[in-house]
Amino acid sequence: MRRLPGAALLPLPLPLALLVAAGAPEAPVSAPRSLVWGPGLRVGVVLPVRYFYLQAVNSEGQNLTRSPPGQTLFKVVIKSLSPKELVRIHVPKPLDRNDGTFLMRYRMYETVSEGLKIEVLYGDEHVAQSPYILKGPVYHEYCECPEGDPQAWQKTLSCPTKEPQIAKDFASFPSINLQQMLNEVPKRFGDERGAIVHYTILNNRIYRRSLGKYTDFKMFSDEILLSLARKVLLPDIELYINLGDWPLEHRQVNETPGPLPIISWCGSLDSRDIILPTYDITHSTLEAMRGVTNDLLSIQGNTGPSWINKTEKAFFRGRDSREERLQLVQLSKENPELLDAGITGYFFFQEKEKELGKAKLTGFFDFFKYKYQVNVDGTVAAYRYPYLMLGDSLVLKQDSTYYEHFYMALTPWKHYVPIKRNLSDLLEKVKWAKENDGEARKIAKEGQLASRELLQPHRLFCYYYRVLQKYAERQSSKPKIRDGMELVPQPDDNASPCQCLRERPSREEL
Ligand SMILES: *[C@@H]1O[C@H](CO)[C@@H](O)[C@H](O)[C@H]1NC(C)=O
Ligand SMILES: *[C@@H]1O[C@H](CO)[C@@H](O)[C@H](O)[C@H]1NC(C)=O
Ligand SMILES: *[C@@H]1O[C@H](CO)[C@@H](O)[C@H](O)[C@H]1NC(C)=O
Repeated sequence: MRRLPGAALLPLPLPLALLVAAGAPEAPVSAPRSLVWGPGLRVGVVLPVRYFYLQAVNSEGQNLTRSPPGQTLFKVVIKSLSPKELVRIHVPKPLDRNDGTFLMRYRMYETVSEGLKIEVLYGDEHVAQSPYILKGPVYHEYCECPEGDPQAWQKTLSCPTKEPQIAKDFASFPSINLQQMLNEVPKRFGDERGAIVHYTILNNRIYRRSLGKYTDFKMFSDEILLSLARKVLLPDIELYINLGDWPLEHRQVNETPGPLPIISWCGSLDSRDIILPTYDITHSTLEAMRGVTNDLLSIQGNTGPSWINKTEKAFFRGRDSREERLQLVQLSKENPELLDAGITGYFFFQEKEKELGKAKLTGFFDFFKYKYQVNVDGTVAAYRYPYLMLGDSLVLKQDSTYYEHFYMALTPWKHYVPIKRNLSDLLEKVKWAKENDGEARKIAKEGQLASRELLQPHRLFCYYYRVLQKYAERQSSKPKIRDGMELVPQPDDNASPCQCLRERPSREEL
């Protein structure tokens, strides 16, 4: 039986309370009282896709908690301030987040020198303080125009003053001995099967050499470093990035010789690697609205039916990259009323395919037809977790020693429901969620709200910069361009020429 959300005894957070009271005739949306805010309205926040938010408010001053009925009338029109300056800007329809808020995006393919006029409209009416004027120059993603004052750049982006994961990662490394790294890293991790790239950044130019054969993923580290260097003056730095799945450094802090600060995309409780946002969310942030369909923004407008219309089952689709995933499918066969799990591709356990069968691929956005999502590790942390958290389903997360850069900010039972590593309590947890719909919905919402804050694209840039900065502060000697390193050039394929009005900053002047 389907019960009304939160019909029981639980104290409700405000948005749910409003929903329950939605029987009353709804006051119409008020364009002037609605709210508009976000980084995409600030000229200095240069991003591949700029974005801002809209909260619909009704004529009585109350926030809407679901989309206004019918086709949404919100729209965004962006023009160059000067009629003489033509500019290519892609402005898709607002993303309806299904809770009375909208996400507005635009990608600039050129720089404008006069500026931009951003109109946010509801029908023909201006919303909030629209039109918003961004006095130029407004630079596009591919304009090479770094801000010479990194402090100022971080302030413009409203970067958080504290990143607990970064503080924790660097606690193991009060100083960084480059000579020791040069001696040891190639020997310990640079063998044939290695997936390490050695980078030197000098005067905001990026040089690198590969150690080992499996370094194709350097396209991902290259693209984010180049993107950062277009925006801000990077510290001079020499570092090793691990492109493989697993974190590498298992030495303890009190051992001699001590651990080396290898940079990786995934961390684990038994290793010391310094972590970065994964290549998955990083790449999709850079290529959003170009090559990729699923990214930290687009997912927010594709979260399926509203809560009461989602299928009350836990859902999983994925590859066979860990044994528990196969167990999940077995559980699903035995308990189809609680769980719908399938393996979409066999590689590690091919002998199991006959027994368990192969599920058809399901588009990621369709996952959110289900109320509960199971997150089980792959070879390391499952990199879908950020996207699952941004949906509006309840995430059931397998206990894991692996983590990504933002996990520390999320709390079990507040933002997601934890399940045991061996999945022994999964069915019990699904039953709990079905029987405690109000509570389950509240956790799903809290998790989504926290993730929307943590996983904003501009914060990835903040995070990367902060890691480079912390690392640079600890280096004991000057970085150099080493034998065999080559310059990684800025891409020129889609660069439309831009006039950077900042002087090219240089270390020497500082
Ligand atoms: C209305 O929404 C805005 C933006 O989401 C939020 O900051 C504000 O606290 C909300 N107001 C109420 C009364 O919930
Ligand atoms: C649930 O689905 C029904 C049938 O499609 C639809 O009429 C109703 O508006 C939906 N409810 C919500 C809250 O979206
Ligand atoms: C699953 O793991 C728990 C510890 O987290 C253990 O107590 C339990 O016996 C395990 N169950 C199975 C079936 O292995």
